[in-house]
Amino acid sequence: MHILLENVFKELGGRQILNSLSLEIPQGQTYCIIGRSGTGKSVTLKHLVGLLKADRGKILIDGINMVGFQDRQLRGLRKRMGYLFQSGALLNWMTVGENVALPLIEHERQLSRSEVLRRVREKLALVGLQDAEDKLPENLSGGMKKRAGLARAIIRDPELVLYDEPTSGLDPVMSSQIDEVIRDLQTELGVTSIVVTHDMASAYRVADRIGMLYEGQIIEEGTPDEIRSTTNPFVRQFIQGDTKGPLTAESSTDPFTGSKKTARVKDS
Ligand SMILES: Nc1ncnc2c1ncn2[C@@H]1O[C@H](COP(=O)(O)OP(=O)(O)OP(=O)(O)O)[C@@H](O)[C@H]1O
Ligand SMILES: [Mg+2]
Repeated sequence: MHILLENVFKELGGRQILNSLSLEIPQGQTYCIIGRSGTGKSVTLKHLVGLLKADRGKILIDGINMVGFQDRQLRGLRKRMGYLFQSGALLNWMTVGENVALPLIEHERQLSRSEVLRRVREKLALVGLQDAEDKLPENLSGGMKKRAGLARAIIRDPELVLYDEPTSGLDPVMSSQIDEVIRDLQTELGVTSIVVTHDMASAYRVADRIGMLYEGQIIEEGTPDEIRSTTNPFVRQFIQGDTKGPLTAESSTDPFTGSKKTARVKDS
């Protein structure tokens, strides 16, 4: 899927969360959105699945503007997408296998029980959870819950997968395993992915491009190498986790250039 956001605006709770947000993701690429807590990363993903509606602007999926889609059209679109929720969002009263099977049971009622089971096992194996099929979510570690959520997000072989913090709370080895699954989906199935993350090690591993969201816009975007060596003080402070810098200070510094109050012109 090709994704293009053009000047998207969204106000929530009296605050302008997305403020003319624009970004483009070519078919088959992995784009990482980084940025501080509360900047609107999850809100951005929710627009792409139609859980939130833009106040203004365009969200083009394969060239078709989904802003203003009716429920029926949204359902058609969602069929082609997988969404790994930040919280995992597993249903407590169902086993891991049943949770992973849910999207199939909901959208592909024609499938036989054995076919559903076959696909569930295939995806559980992909995320390393082949032995957890009959477990209840309460008996899983945080990392296992994440992986179960991931298996559910990809059960229908989506064309676009949205990952909200797929590696947060995981140990480094587990994080690398999740990153590998994300990469494998890209290389083997040509999936387009958006990964929201605070985990820079993970972003550098999976991303084709990384964009930093700040005050409702992408203030800088580039390849992992470009981001690693950025001179933008906002991005530098974020990726290095410094406590001092423009992100924490009350300042009139321009987030695009790092220089004092100039017109918002983005380098390219
Ligand atoms: N449905 C809503 N109603 C009102 N405000 C909302 C709603 N959803 C999100 N917000 C607000 O929008 C802002 C951005 O939220 P969002 O969840 O996108 O942050 P985030 O960048 O994902 O942060 P984190 O890294 O902590 O997950 C926050 O201030 C949040 O309180
Ligand atoms: Mg979030």
